[in-house]
Amino acid sequence: MTGDKEKLKIAVAGKGGVGKTTIAGTLARLLARDGHSVIAVDADPSMNLKFVLGIKDNPKPVSELKDLIFERTNAYSGTGIYKLNPKVDDVIRRYGAEGPDGVTLLVMGTIEKGGSGCTCPENAFLRSLLRHILFKGNTVIMDMEAGIEHLGRGTAKGVDLLLAVVEPGMRSVETVGRIKTLGMDIGIKNVAAVMNKVTDSEMVKMIETKLNEMDIPLLAIIPHDQALINADIENKAPLDVGGDAVEHIKTIKEILIDCH
Ligand SMILES: Nc1ncnc2c1ncn2[C@@H]1O[C@H](COP(=O)(O)OP(=O)(O)O)[C@@H](O)[C@H]1O
Ligand SMILES: [Mg+2]
Repeated sequence: MTGDKEKLKIAVAGKGGVGKTTIAGTLARLLARDGHSVIAVDADPSMNLKFVLGIKDNPKPVSELKDLIFERTNAYSGTGIYKLNPKVDDVIRRYGAEGPDGVTLLVMGTIEKGGSGCTCPENAFLRSLLRHILFKGNTVIMDMEAGIEHLGRGTAKGVDLLLAVVEPGMRSVETVGRIKTLGMDIGIKNVAAVMNKVTDSEMVKMIETKLNEMDIPLLAIIPHDQALINADIENKAPLDVGGDAVEHIKTIKEILIDCH
């Protein structure tokens, strides 16, 4: 691990099923192989980044650390007042899972919305933790849920690039348009797209046109690759299986480093 690498802070977003987790996890490991000190953040409630990283155990989601959250936010006081900037600097060391290539995985977990009871201390804690991670001297790859709800203004400023994944089909392109608007609103400076699961060049042209209209640069085109489906079936990390798609993700890693 070298400390002098340029730090990348990338959030990967897009419609469900487009390949966010596959790309985020593989990028995280490739950057770690290059000497980056990488924190991979699973910010999707489905919590499957560990499979793509090749981590076998089950890291505890931070949202489930109720006692710690209540203690740190001072929510036990019963006053309804809680701290917005709780201490979080030990959370990565204590609850991060070390994976292949030296990637550290942090699983954010889910916070139930609505119902009875305020989830404000949990939200304050997760936000504070994300801010801490993004402004620390690490490379950060965040695997987001379909939207970018986890990011607020304070965290968005720490993100260098919102990498939006699209697949052939107009719905995922529309999602990327919405993500871009939302991202810009909260202060994200750069949005770029990656096209994934591509089989047909006509479709590529259509999507390229749409992305152009939205002024979103297209960084790479990843083919549909049976090797990734096999990796999923065999419960192996895509990087440990290899294949065409993985080679394309390696190219994305090079582009990200060059553009940084
Ligand atoms: N280029 C590709 N070719 C074939 N299958 C892919 C490709 N990229 C991802 N997949 C498969 O698509 C499914 C959804 O991918 P995933 O990364 O979990 O998407 P998301 O995180 O956006 O929901 C997984 O089964 C994955 O193996
Ligand atoms: Mg996912």
